[in-house]
Amino acid sequence: MIDSTSQPFPPTDRRDFLRISALAALGALPATGAFAQATDDDGPLTNKPIDEVRVGLVGAGGMGRVHVANLARIPGCRLTAICDIREEHTARAQQMVVDAGHARPTGYSRGETDYERMIETEDLDLVYNATPWRWHVPIATCAMRNGKHVAVEVPASYTLDGCWELVETAEKHRRHCMMLENCCYDRVEMLALQLVRAGLLGEVLHGEAGYMHDLRAIKWSKTGEGLWRRAHSQTRNGNLYPTHGLGPVAQCMDINRGDQFDYVVSMSGPSRGLQDYARRHLPDDDPRRSETFKLGDVNVSLIRTKRGRTIYLGHDTNLPRPYSRLYLVQGTRGIIEGYPPRVHIEGRSEGHGWEKLDDYYRAYEHPLWKQDAARQASAGHGGMDYLESARLIECLRTGTPLDMDVYDAAAISAMCELTERSVANRSQAIDVPDFTRGRWKTRRPPAAVKG
Ligand SMILES: NC(=O)c1ccc[n+]([C@@H]2O[C@H](COP(=O)([O-])OP(=O)(O)OC[C@H]3O[C@@H](n4cnc5c(N)ncnc54)[C@H](O)[C@@H]3O)[C@@H](O)[C@H]2O)c1
Repeated sequence: MIDSTSQPFPPTDRRDFLRISALAALGALPATGAFAQATDDDGPLTNKPIDEVRVGLVGAGGMGRVHVANLARIPGCRLTAICDIREEHTARAQQMVVDAGHARPTGYSRGETDYERMIETEDLDLVYNATPWRWHVPIATCAMRNGKHVAVEVPASYTLDGCWELVETAEKHRRHCMMLENCCYDRVEMLALQLVRAGLLGEVLHGEAGYMHDLRAIKWSKTGEGLWRRAHSQTRNGNLYPTHGLGPVAQCMDINRGDQFDYVVSMSGPSRGLQDYARRHLPDDDPRRSETFKLGDVNVSLIRTKRGRTIYLGHDTNLPRPYSRLYLVQGTRGIIEGYPPRVHIEGRSEGHGWEKLDDYYRAYEHPLWKQDAARQASAGHGGMDYLESARLIECLRTGTPLDMDVYDAAAISAMCELTERSVANRSQAIDVPDFTRGRWKTRRPPAAVKG
């Protein structure tokens, strides 16, 4: 499952080609069902409003518990089931819900596929999926097949086939599949989106995004992500975690809603960091010292969009370095950056200098960040995790389109395998599949969130 890099790679649109050919041969290209979204122009998926959203959560580890804490305090939702292969993780999450003053959710801990029992037997509207990467697609598609909406952690899938499977299942069953890209809800990123929408940056031409996070201690840990995340660095070489940086830049560029990723080139450097860390920190007799790694410590990619815009995308998780997502959006009139947070707007900022964001927050703060609930949210990355869940629940309760849909999940997550393909082929340019099948040209950004 983990090794998706075996050679040679088929063309990136192979799956689409085969699927459409097969259906055409059968005379089975229906106007409804699987292709309803691909052929009609009725905009993004909506569903009937759900008065109280019943949620089942799979994967109650580090991130799952953040979601439990947030969901337990969001009005109009009820966590009714928790599933984790580790009974103590299930029990801890159940207790969190009880401690927050709600009924005890039903627990599921009978092995790796017990989520199926939860999904098939519980009355759920929404399944939260915060499991290790290999489980994202199987759990998400199982939920949608059984009529449940899905919120899946990042990346939604690390294979192209998985991305297509999510899109096709969401279309066929007309269920939402939102990738939980919390960084789209962080304060600077939302301010940048406001500045773009207000036209302050002019026409957006360039973005920079990345995941630069020293994960060495986490990857070598004997608990949590150490149990599964390091394995991906052993067999894969590319950008393993593109979504945190790319998600918010994609929003500013209206990807899937007026523009589309066109192609990507990617390059990885040597693999040294994990080996070096193991030599210095693991006991001499630790068998893990003999592990070998394929992932280049620094991976850099360049994406070009159909409208000719450029995006620099970085991935850097095995070396000592302070955290950064880069986050830069540049247009004909100005530029905003997240690390450090600063802005320059022609005609407003002095000379060639940067300005702090304070004045811009006063004038352009996103309405979601004006809410006390966001500022007071303690669980999860300074409030953005609360906001992403609160928005999702609000959209389901009002029956309005989600801020991010399955096409966003697929296009952004696809960078995992696409960068791996490019790295494996001397940085060859690799086409990005069009998961909207042409509808990016007519789809429009969702209406701005009102305060
Ligand atoms: N958005 C963010 O900021 C952010 C931060 C951290 C992690 N994540 C993502 O969240 C996901 C989980 O990461 P984590 O840090 O919580 O990892 P973790 O290892 O702490 O938690 C994973 C949990 O899933 C459980 N699990 C594994 N297989 C399962 C299965 N088949 N059925 C049910 N439970 C299963 C494990 O027992 C564990 O409790 C990953 O996709 C990761 O990329 C996102």
